[in-house]
Amino acid sequence: MKKEKLLEVEQLNIKFTTSIGDVNVSDDINFTLNKGETFCIVGESGCGKSVVALSLTRLLPENAVINGLVKFEGHPISGLDEKAFAKIRGQKIATIFEQPMSCINPVMRIGDQIAETYRANFNCSKKEAKLQAIKKLEEVKMPVNRYNAYPHELSGGMQQRVMIAIALACNPQLLIADEPTTSLDVTVQYQILELLQELKEKYHMTILMITHDMGVVHDMADRIGVMYAGNMMEISEREDFFKKPLHPYAVELLNVVKDPCHYTIPGAVPNLMETFTGCPFEPRCNKKTALCKTNKPESVVMGERIVRCLNVVPN
Ligand SMILES: Nc1ncnc2c1ncn2[C@@H]1O[C@H](COP(=O)(O)OP(=O)(O)O)[C@@H](O)[C@H]1O
Ligand code: SF4
Ligand SMILES: [Mg+2]
Repeated sequence: MKKEKLLEVEQLNIKFTTSIGDVNVSDDINFTLNKGETFCIVGESGCGKSVVALSLTRLLPENAVINGLVKFEGHPISGLDEKAFAKIRGQKIATIFEQPMSCINPVMRIGDQIAETYRANFNCSKKEAKLQAIKKLEEVKMPVNRYNAYPHELSGGMQQRVMIAIALACNPQLLIADEPTTSLDVTVQYQILELLQELKEKYHMTILMITHDMGVVHDMADRIGVMYAGNMMEISEREDFFKKPLHPYAVELLNVVKDPCHYTIPGAVPNLMETFTGCPFEPRCNKKTALCKTNKPESVVMGERIVRCLNVVPN
């Protein structure tokens, strides 16, 4: 079956200008989200995953310089003015974060917050918005009698459900979830992932999941993008990835999963103020050759997979 594209990201370059120099967080990143899939971007902390995700809805601070083309349903959205873009952010793309309280109003009853979000986007009566908010509470499996609760009266998992209800109030086509379960304990984490999967299927949503957790990738992903030092190193379908990761960094990420108590990838993620003449993974790579220090790898398409490594070549 032909895959329909929802979001296309082409040659995305992002840097932050700071008083002590530029931080290059995204280096010619390309990826596509197909309708109805979950695409997971995975990589260690500090690789630029959140910055890439936030750039898609223009939620980065003012010192960010973004270049590249983003298309939504085939239409370029990166050049839209703020007013036109706000409609997309409100009605087509929603984002949830690790910390629910970053987008929940602490002094407003949770039901009213969901209703207000709905009303702000659909211009309906208060009564209709309240009915929709109750429906959303049910969908995220919150007891409806919590409609009048304040956020501080809820557990972390419940707050996460409220944030999901607010995000889904407008039935977005794309949900960006940035480490949505990282601060939750394992059982609650599982319940939230299950809920996201259920809602995705119900609404035929597309999910862009940002995580450093291979367990989350394993449970959720249809396709996977591996990010390292602002570069997309590999894009593969889930089955191919777990059967045979191609990029040496992806291989190392899976080595950690196999032996989490003993194995760590040697070295550390580089400071993104560095400029890389060769491959950014070179200092940590056990497959490196002499060229890796001086030649920067380009992305190479290998069937359904894309790999950015000088020593992984199509056979
Ligand atoms: N406003 C900013 N100014 C300068 N550097 C920033 C800013 N925001 C993020 N960064 C840097 O961007 C890099 C990538 O951050 P991030 O996307 O949060 O990584 P990840 O989500 O993969 O853990 C980090 O090195 C971080 O310090
Ligand atoms: S280009 Fe070289 S250093 Fe980089 S990942 Fe490939 S083998 Fe390792
Ligand atoms: Mg992050």
